[in-house]
Amino acid sequence: MSTNKFHVAIIGGGIGGLTAAIALSKRTDIQVDVYETAHKYTEIGAGVRLRRRSWHVMRALGLEEPLSQLVDVTSEDERAAFTFRMGDQTEGFTFFQLENPMGALAFHRADFLQALSTHLPTENVTSHFCKRLISYTLPPLSSPTAPIALNFKDGTTSECDVLIGADGIHSAVRGKMYRDIAAAAEARGIDEEGKRLLEMVDPKWSGSVAYRGVIPCAKLEAISPGHRAMEGGVNYMGQDKHVIVFPMVHKKLINVVAFCSEPSKEGTTFDGQSVQEVPQSELLEQYAGWEKEVTDLLKCIEKPSRWAIDTVGPLPTFNFGRVVLLGDAAHAMTPHQGSGAGQAIEDAYILSALLTSPITTFTPRSTTTTDTNGNPERQITTTLEEALKVYDAIRQPASNDVLRLSRINGLLYEFNDPRFPAALSPVPNPGLPGDDSDRGTGTGDDVEKDKERLKQMGEEIKKNWEWAWSADAEKQKDEALRMLEERVARIPGRVGVHDN
Ligand SMILES: Cc1cc2nc3c(=O)[nH]c(=O)nc-3n(C[C@H](O)[C@H](O)[C@H](O)COP(=O)(O)OP(=O)(O)OC[C@H]3O[C@@H](n4cnc5c(N)ncnc54)[C@H](O)[C@@H]3O)c2cc1C
Ligand SMILES: *[C@@H]1O[C@H](CO)[C@@H](O)[C@H](O)[C@H]1NC(C)=O
Repeated sequence: MSTNKFHVAIIGGGIGGLTAAIALSKRTDIQVDVYETAHKYTEIGAGVRLRRRSWHVMRALGLEEPLSQLVDVTSEDERAAFTFRMGDQTEGFTFFQLENPMGALAFHRADFLQALSTHLPTENVTSHFCKRLISYTLPPLSSPTAPIALNFKDGTTSECDVLIGADGIHSAVRGKMYRDIAAAAEARGIDEEGKRLLEMVDPKWSGSVAYRGVIPCAKLEAISPGHRAMEGGVNYMGQDKHVIVFPMVHKKLINVVAFCSEPSKEGTTFDGQSVQEVPQSELLEQYAGWEKEVTDLLKCIEKPSRWAIDTVGPLPTFNFGRVVLLGDAAHAMTPHQGSGAGQAIEDAYILSALLTSPITTFTPRSTTTTDTNGNPERQITTTLEEALKVYDAIRQPASNDVLRLSRINGLLYEFNDPRFPAALSPVPNPGLPGDDSDRGTGTGDDVEKDKERLKQMGEEIKKNWEWAWSADAEKQKDEALRMLEERVARIPGRVGVHDN
């Protein structure tokens, strides 16, 4: 049997999982199985903004044509702007235009995922629905090419050579991977390390909830003619709250995400259902006293849903043995960089580039490493395992950087960054229930000074975004492939171990 062939199982058919399946299918000696717990590939009825870097990945995968039917693909030279406004007062005002080189494209999630699933090749990719992974078992270290056993909730089992956990924030793969890593740490006598790792695995509440809704532009136009949200993205900001809106689907719909935060509760567990439909009155009460532009938008959302925003990470690794994590399974970040899906796409692209490289094979080779006492130790490995290590070395720092910047943006957007505190809001909103924040007096020089500080804050936010247009995923892909070549060159030739 040829040992070049290998079999990849992807757990989860969301944006990350399906992107990986499409990208892996470029190499025909890889067999791909996607296991999805739902009865079909689905996404929620909300918007998702993808940065131009993600669009470039979609183009590289041959998906530009079908996807460009779903959005207005603006020219890359167009410097799209996101408007930043103080919104938590009756007279709001714009203080910053975040010029966004190359812009972003806003999709309806369901359309986007549907386009991916329609373009899933059927030849080497098999989709399995109603399959919830419960756990898996790694073969012993002495059998480097024995299969990984998968266990599903319906009692069935399956096998694979490489396991990709693309199963979202509540990832079953992540849970098992970290239990294995912790057990390995304990076996080496470092129990503390194992305990520390296990504490990172479960999602934690960010302290924020987000009310989500999608509004037909025609509906907004009827009560607020010419509303600026129909033309471009806006961030309406206030103390502990902000509202992100942007048009999508050829400017027919507006996506609304209204955040309310209790920063002191970051890291606790949300007390309530993680997603819940709530009465419109709850949403309107949260933004009482905000400018009319905001309340008009919110009035158009008849049935808002409230989401507890949970996070996972930064995790120290996305890889153990022949198992890797991608997307929210690896790094569930807050949405304040609008980049969770974009990072899932980049993970999938770079992982697939490594796995489809001709030097990645499942042929056992012997290598020498040093054990804990510094003595040389002979080990059997495959270049495939090296590819997974390179994926981790490249993607773990990159996506965790975005995760950290996303958290900082969340603080900046709601005046909780100590460098730009609440006193910035120049016009006070006296008499609002529960508003005891220390605000500026709103007179004369103070207003000008505060506006100057707001502009500085805008520049700080822009700096946090720079990673998104200063490089491309392609650069990381080249770096990953170079690193793989270097690592593989250090491994001596194949050994006489038979594939099993
Ligand atoms: C309010 C909000 C706004 C956002 N806006 C943006 C944005 O504008 N731009 C952006 O880039 N990102 C945004 N994000 C983040 C983005 O939604 C996520 O990062 C992205 O959807 C993650 O994709 P994924 O494929 O990793 O996981 P998911 O989309 O969660 O997919 C996981 C899949 O795995 C399946 N699954 C789960 N467990 C199992 C199991 N045990 N066995 C089998 N299948 C399983 C699930 O059914 C699902 O289909 C936003 C997030 C929020 C909360
Ligand atoms: C992938 O599909 C091609 C074309 O049908 C086929 O020749 C090849 O054997 C398939 N590969 C695997 C791993 O099944």
